[in-house]
Amino acid sequence: MRTHLCGEVCAELIGEEVTLCGWVRRWRDHGGLVFIDLADYSGFSQVVFTPDFPEAFALGEKLRSEYVIQVCGVLRKRPDGTVNPNLPTGEVELEVRSAKLLSEAVTPPFMIQDDVDAKEELRLRYRYLDLRRPRMQSMLRLRHSVYRAARAYLDERKFCEVETPILTKPTPEGARDFIVPSRINQNQFYALPQSPQLFKQVLMCSGLDRYYQIVRCFRDEDLRANRQPEFTQIDIELSFAEEAEIQELVEGLVKRIWKESIGEELEPPFLRMSYHEAMARFGVDAPDMRFGMELKDCSPLFGETEFKVFRQALEIGGAVKGICVPGGSDMSRRIFDELIAFIAPYGAKGLAWVKIEEEGVSSPIAKFLDEAQIEKMRDLFDADVGDAILLVADQVSVVHASLGALRCHLAAERDLIEEENCFLWVEKFPLLEYDSAAGRFVAVHHPFTSPLLETEEDRARLDNEPGEVLARAYDLVLNGQEIGGGSIRIHDSELQNRMFSLLGISSEEADSKFGFLLGALSHGAPPHGGIALGLDRIVMLLSGLDSIRDCIAFPKTQRGQDVMVGAPSKASTEQLVELGIKLAVP
Ligand code: AMO
Ligand code: AMP
Repeated sequence: MRTHLCGEVCAELIGEEVTLCGWVRRWRDHGGLVFIDLADYSGFSQVVFTPDFPEAFALGEKLRSEYVIQVCGVLRKRPDGTVNPNLPTGEVELEVRSAKLLSEAVTPPFMIQDDVDAKEELRLRYRYLDLRRPRMQSMLRLRHSVYRAARAYLDERKFCEVETPILTKPTPEGARDFIVPSRINQNQFYALPQSPQLFKQVLMCSGLDRYYQIVRCFRDEDLRANRQPEFTQIDIELSFAEEAEIQELVEGLVKRIWKESIGEELEPPFLRMSYHEAMARFGVDAPDMRFGMELKDCSPLFGETEFKVFRQALEIGGAVKGICVPGGSDMSRRIFDELIAFIAPYGAKGLAWVKIEEEGVSSPIAKFLDEAQIEKMRDLFDADVGDAILLVADQVSVVHASLGALRCHLAAERDLIEEENCFLWVEKFPLLEYDSAAGRFVAVHHPFTSPLLETEEDRARLDNEPGEVLARAYDLVLNGQEIGGGSIRIHDSELQNRMFSLLGISSEEADSKFGFLLGALSHGAPPHGGIALGLDRIVMLLSGLDSIRDCIAFPKTQRGQDVMVGAPSKASTEQLVELGIKLAVP
C-alpha cells in the first residue's frame, strides 16, 4: 500500500513518485492549498493538496484529525523560506495527485502530540490514541531494544530461556499474592508468581546450568511511581557461580542494553558499597549518589547537650544526624516548616536547622549550642558560610528514613543533581529483619538467600544472634532506584530447613509450601545464584520518564485498574457458581 514511511522521505527522493499511508495529524488551509502533516510511527511528512488535482483536492478539503489516508504523488523541494531544518523530512513535501480515504475518525479527546495536556486517566482510557504520540512510540521501540539486547547478550553466553508457570503456588517476595480460583479443584486456588524464583532454582537442580526469562511477575502491593502490580523482570540464574561472576555478567548485560538502546557507553565495574555503609551515609539502601549532602552522625557531639529532644533521643539509643544543604541559609521559616511536614510521614518529630551566616549561626536551638560544638559541627559537615545544617534526632531508623528522603527531596528542589548516571552495587545486606508487628524474623531478600557464613563465629551467630547475620545478596541501584536484586542461594536442604525455622515456618508448613524445593535440593543441587532486573524501571531510567506507567503499553492506574478494558470487573453469577464461590458482599 505504501512505498515509504512518512518519516523517511528526504531530499534524495525529490522528483520521485511516492505513496504514503498514515494519520492526518495537522490540517491547514492556505489560500486554496491544503497542507497536512501525515504521520505514522516513523515521523511525519508535509503533504500538499492543490486544485490542479481536483479529485484529490476534494478529499483533502474534508479531511479531519486522525483520518487515515493513502496519498500518491511526486516529492518536491519545499519553497524557499518554508524549509524546516530541524525535521528529517523538513526539506521536502509531497504534492498529492491521487488520494484515498482509508478510515474516518471521530474527534479525538486530546491532541495526539508529545506535550499533551490531558489527565493521565483520560490518556489511559484512550490508550490506543495515547500510544500514537511520538514519545510513546519511541518508548515501545526502546523497550523492544532492551528485550533484544538482553536476549542477544544472554544467548551468546549460553543461557537458555525457559518459560515457567503463571498459574502456580505462592512465591514469597514480600508482597501479597494474586490468587485464581480453580474450577476443577473446588475450593483451591492458584497464585500468580511474584517471581519465578523457585522454578529457576529447580531448573538449576535439573542441570540446566544457565537460565533466563523475560517474565511477567505479579505483586499485590501498594502502587507508587516505580511500581506496578504486574511488571517484567529479566530473570537470570546460574549454576556453579558466585557473587563476582554474577555481578560481572550483569554489568556486561547492562552495558549492552545501554549501548544498544540509547548508544551510551557505560564503564563497569560499577561502585560497590555495603548495606551498612549505604544506610549510614545516605539513610537508604538504594542511595542516589549523583549529589552529596551525605548524612553525618552528630551524636557524639551532642553527648552532653542541654537540648532535651537531642538528649532523650541519645538516651534511648537513638541518634542525632544531619545533612548540610549548600547555600541553604536562604531557606525561610516557612520552607523549614514545609520540610518538617515533608519528613513527618517518616516518623520524624521535628527538624532543627542551623544556618551558617557571616555573623555566626542562626538557629532555633542556638541557645543550646556552644562555640566548640558549632566549630565541630562546621568541620564535620565541611559547612561554609551560606550553608544550612539540618538535624534530626530520633531512633536510628527514623533518622535514616527521614534524612534519606529529605536529602533526595532537597537535591531535586534545589537542582543539585548531576546529569551523569550513577550505578551502584549494594551488598552484604542483613539476612533477616525483625518484624515487630508479626513478632518474628522475616527475610530481607527472600527465604532462599544464602547467609554469609565465612567463619565459625558467623555460624554460631546464626544460632545466637540471627539478626546480625549477613546475606549473600546484592542489589543493583541506578540513581537511587533499585533496578535489580539477587543473591547466592541456599543449595543445602538442611540449611534451607534451618532458614525456614528461623523465619518461624514450621516443618509441616515448609513441607506443604516448599516441599518440592527441599526435594530438589536433597537430590544433588549445584551451588547457584542469580538476579532479576526490573525491566520497566530500566526503560523508565533509559528514557528519562518519571513514571513506570509511561513505560508499559497497557499499565494499571494507582488503583490497580486498567481503565481501557475496565479491569478488574465483576464475575458473572454462572462463573461464581461454577467456581463454588459465594461473595461476602454480593
Ligand atoms: P526483587 O523482588 O528484588 O527480586 O525484584 C527484582 C527487581 O524487580 C523490580 N520490581 C518491580 N518493578 C516494578 N513494579 C514492582 N512492583 C516491582 N517489584 C520489583 C525491581 C527489583 O529490583 N526473585 C528475586 C530475584 C532473585 O533473587 O534472583 C526477585 O524477584 O527493579
Ligand atoms: P522545640 O523545643 O520543640 O520548640 O524545638 C526546637 C527546634 O527543634 C524546632 O526547630 C524543632 O523543629 C526541632 N526539633 C524538635 N524535635 C526534633 C527532633 N526529634 N529532631 C530534630 N529537631 C527537632
